[in-house]
This record gives sequence, structure tokens and C-alpha cells, in this order.
Amino acid sequence: MCGIIGYVGDRKVTEVLIKGLKRLEYRGYDSSGIAVFTNDRIEVTKAAGKIAEMETRVAGFDMAGTHGGIGHTRWATHGAPNTTNAHPHRVGDIVLVHNGIIENFREIQEEVFRRGFKPQSETDSEMFAFLVHFEMERGTEFVEAVRKSFLKVQGASSIVVMHEKFPGLIVGVRNGSPLVVGCDGELGGVAMASDVQPLLDYTDRVAFLENGDMAICTAKGIEFLDAASGRRIERPFAKIEWSADRLDKNGYPHYMLKEIHEQSRTIIDTLAAAIGPSSGSLPFEMVNEDGIRAIIDADRVSMVACGTSWHASLLGKYWFERFAGISTDSELASEFRYRSPVLSKRHLVMGVSQSGETADTLAVLQQMKERGVETMAVTNVKGSSIARVVDYPYFMCCGPEIGVASTKAFTGQMLMLYIMANRLQRGAAMSDPTGALMDALVKRHRQTYELPHHLSRVLDDGGATMCALEKAVQDVQHSKGFFFMGRGYSWPLALEGALKLKEIAYVHAEGYAAGELKHGPIAMLEPAITVVVVAPRDQWYEKTISNLQEVKARGARIVALGHAGDEKLAAMADHFVPLPLAEEQLDESLLPFLIAPVLQLFAYRIAVLKGTDVDQPRNLAKSVTVE
Ligand code: M6R
Repeated sequence: MCGIIGYVGDRKVTEVLIKGLKRLEYRGYDSSGIAVFTNDRIEVTKAAGKIAEMETRVAGFDMAGTHGGIGHTRWATHGAPNTTNAHPHRVGDIVLVHNGIIENFREIQEEVFRRGFKPQSETDSEMFAFLVHFEMERGTEFVEAVRKSFLKVQGASSIVVMHEKFPGLIVGVRNGSPLVVGCDGELGGVAMASDVQPLLDYTDRVAFLENGDMAICTAKGIEFLDAASGRRIERPFAKIEWSADRLDKNGYPHYMLKEIHEQSRTIIDTLAAAIGPSSGSLPFEMVNEDGIRAIIDADRVSMVACGTSWHASLLGKYWFERFAGISTDSELASEFRYRSPVLSKRHLVMGVSQSGETADTLAVLQQMKERGVETMAVTNVKGSSIARVVDYPYFMCCGPEIGVASTKAFTGQMLMLYIMANRLQRGAAMSDPTGALMDALVKRHRQTYELPHHLSRVLDDGGATMCALEKAVQDVQHSKGFFFMGRGYSWPLALEGALKLKEIAYVHAEGYAAGELKHGPIAMLEPAITVVVVAPRDQWYEKTISNLQEVKARGARIVALGHAGDEKLAAMADHFVPLPLAEEQLDESLLPFLIAPVLQLFAYRIAVLKGTDVDQPRNLAKSVTVE
């Protein structure tokens, strides 16, 4: 849950490290630090708070004679987010940064105390520096000392280490938490980071360390070692398709807003990547049919995910059941991994994860592999741990998502699951012919595809949806609390709408299946509470309207989202936010792709009015690599 950067070469070291850390800040942002090789020593600078705090401390730093360094942005696990606990940590000549958890750190700490040392921080990370230090006291050479120490620690970690007596050498080790390396194509030198984003400024060819790998980096290049044996190994370099320009805000005030507006494009990109550029024709095949065959052979699918990705998988369940007629569960990975799930003979487990690094989702997939169960993943990040552990990885094409609140990746996951469900449709038992649905998805509407065309109209700043949304937001922004409710496809969307509002606006919000409200939460309804009802004219519409009557009778404020021209719904609501299309223009199964961005914008606008840090909300990190 932290971000690591390392660099050796002739560029301005502090600039490379700080720029890289800013690209990784989404991974954690409660404190940060860098350590830089100067002429004959290592200079460490750390600060609590955002990277900008640390940056002010290195302003004016003399860069002459620097050859490289390491940096870290932290999401605290062991010890408060203060300057002392910020990385890098130093023990003697050893300086390191760490991402992950050293599970046996207490044992190491006991040895540290026994030997009369006093750790400076409360972190588990500092213990690794002691291990290397002790190893070198026994006469072991530096790289070998890192290797031996690495074999002693338990838990998922990546660590990058430098030594004051070896300027221009950094050593990275990986076991669980990601680490990626690349050579600077322009000026020479080597960079290493927790993900590819900081490397894109210098190269588009990177190598992902495998668990148990070490990377020995100097300005001349990278040598890979197998930590267990100490033997040299080769690692392939892969071309990365993301470009550095997708990492900028492009004039938007926040990444989140930019990413919400990118959804018309990411839907097209994901569609094109999944079913191939020429697959406007029907019936279609996916570019990668291996996983589809595996699902066809399965008798049950369990989707596992966390947070927003779990909401996408809930929609996936509805689509898999409706279109493919396959028994499908949508499970929280953190629960699934510690249950005793009863697996069927031909069970297939599918992880859904934007980052491809979420610890609980990864752990389930690893467990399943060990049990011989077929595994699949829908993720946004090629080379991610989840993508590499499963039998069948499927990639959305959303580009890097920087805002901590997931937006375009959510619709990307939904789309991939929707396409799969339609591809899987198995004949007469199903009610909807695949052709008609896919036609609605891919049919060209003037210059664009049908679905992105409707989405552009929804997101149009001067359009009916956005104008009504803004009025609603202005009116309800100070509500004491929010309920989001919906039925059918709108239930996962209600959960997601509430999650978005909680995570970026810090407002209490709950998502509910509309039929459940009367089983308890209705007691909370009063005029200071706002209920956001998602009620498009779909098969659940009349039932949702009945549930809404119950809400209205309790006097809560109502913001209703439905088809344009729905006077019944509009009459019941304090604010009616119309989807600018008629009921017959789009199959109900595709409406989530229009509704999700509206709910994202509802949360975004309230957060902006409240003045919160939209892109980096408090206490969160984008990539949750701890349990
Ligand atoms: O990378 P993943 O999709 O596996 O992440 C799962 C959740 O941590 C993530 O969706 C989280 O809920 C988002 N911050 C929500 O916006």
C-alpha cells in the first residue's frame, strides 16, 4: 500500500524521485521521503503529509555529485503517519524503503533489542535494515546480505536497499508486492518502482520482478537474481502501451473528473480490445476465447472482488445469470478467503480488480490455484500480480486510473463482464437474443458507437442531466445522511453511489436494495435525510416506485434518477435527474453504463462543495496490498 521508487543514473536525482513519487502518490500519501547518494554519503529527507511537504524540504538541495537514490510514499500500517515512521529507514550504512508487511517483524525486533540496539521507528520496515546490518557485521558482502535477509522475512513485501559505501547501486527484492524495472532509453541509467507509471517518462519497456526475484541495479544496467539460490536469471522486458501523457489532468481540476469524462472513450477502447476492431458484425467472438471456453466448461462461476470491483462483479452476476444461464456468485474476497467455500467439480473463480494487486482478491486466486481450480481475472493492469497468477487474464483498456475513487475502471469492469456474459449466451433457454443486445452496444450512431453516444449526452455540461444534477447537489449537499436505493441492476449501482460519496465527501451514505429499506433503515428517514433512488423504466420499475412511496411518506428528500419524460417519478421527487433517452432506445441491461457516471458525478460535486481532497481522500490508498 505504499509506493517505492529507485533510480541510478545521470538525471537530476531528486527530480526523478519526486516526480516518480507523485505518480505513485495514489498508493499512499500520509508521509514520504527520499534518500540520495551524494558524494560520499546518503542524504535522507522525510516529512509527514503529502509529498509536497517533503518536496519543500529538498528544494535547493545541491544536486552536484548525486548518482541515484530511493523514495517512498507511505500508507501507514505499523506506526503513526509521522516523520519518524516515514521511509527511508536507516541502520548504519543501510538505507531502505519498503512496501508490504513483514509478518515476523516482532521476532526480528526482539533480536534487535537483545543486541542492544534501539529502533528509531515503530515500523516493521526498519527491521529489515537491521537484518542486513547484522548480516554484514558477520562479514557478508552487501548484495548477499540483502539476499540472506530477504530469505528470513515472512509476508508480502517489496524492499529497495542502498548502502552508503556503494554509491550508484540499488538492490530491489520482491515477494508479493509489485516491483518493476526499466532502463532509461535516452540517458542511460535504471529506474525501479512499484508500478510502471514512474517509468513511462524514461522507457516503454519494463520487466516485472517475480516473487523471489532480486534486481541489482547500477547506471550500467540490471542483473536479476533468484533470491533462493543466488543464481543469475533472465527476466523478459515487455512493451507498455500506456503513455506518460495519460498521467496528466489535461486541464481538469481533478483526476477523478477527467476519468469520469474519459468513460465514453474507455468504453470504446475496452470494446475494441475485447472483441476486435472488426467485430461490429454479429455474432461475435472475443479476441481471447480461451477463458470463454473455460467458463462454458464450468458448472459454476464465483466472482471475487473488493470495494467498487465487488459492485461491478454483482452486476456481472446478474448478466451472467440472465444471458449465460450460468450459476454465478459474487463474493467479497476478504470473506471468501477465510470461509470454507464448497467448490463444485468444474468451478471457475474469477477475480475482478482494477489494480490487479488487491491482497484479498489475490490471496483467493492463489488459494484456488493451489486447489487446482481454474482461475480468471478481469483487471486493468497488465503485468499485475493477479494477471500473472490466473489461468485466463482479461484486460480492460481504461488506461491508468489515478483518482483513488474508481470511476472509469468500474465501467470498464462492467463492460468486460457484460461482453463475456453476452458471448456466453447458450441458446434457446435465454430470453434475449445476443445479437440485439450487442447490436445496441456496438451499433454506430453517427460517428460514434451507440452506448458512448448516449453517455456523452449524459455527461454534457449544458445538458438536461448535468443541469438537474447540479441543482440537486446544491440543494442536498448539507443533508445529515444519504440512502441510495435501487432494484435489479440498480442495486449494485446504489451500493456504488453510496461508496463514492462516503470515500470522497466523508458523508454517511448507505446503499440498499430498495426492497430492503423497510426492514430496518426506514426508521432513519426524516427530512434531513436524502434518498437517491435509481429508477429507470426497467423490469423492476414498478416495485421501485412502490418502495419510493414508502420513503416519500416518511418525509425524506428525494433525488430520483430515471428516464427522461418519466412524470410519475418526477412528481414524487424533490429533484428529478433525467437520463436523456427514451426507454426503447437502449436495453435495460445497458443502462448501468449511463447511470454509474451520474452517481460518480453526484459524489464528486458534493465533495468539491465540501472542499475535500477528491483525488486523494483521507485514510485511503488506491492499491490495497494489505489485508
Ligand atoms: O484494485 P481493486 O479494483 O482490486 O481495488 C478494490 C477496492 O480497493 C477499490 O475498488 C476501492 O473500493 C475504490 N477506492 C473505490 O473507489
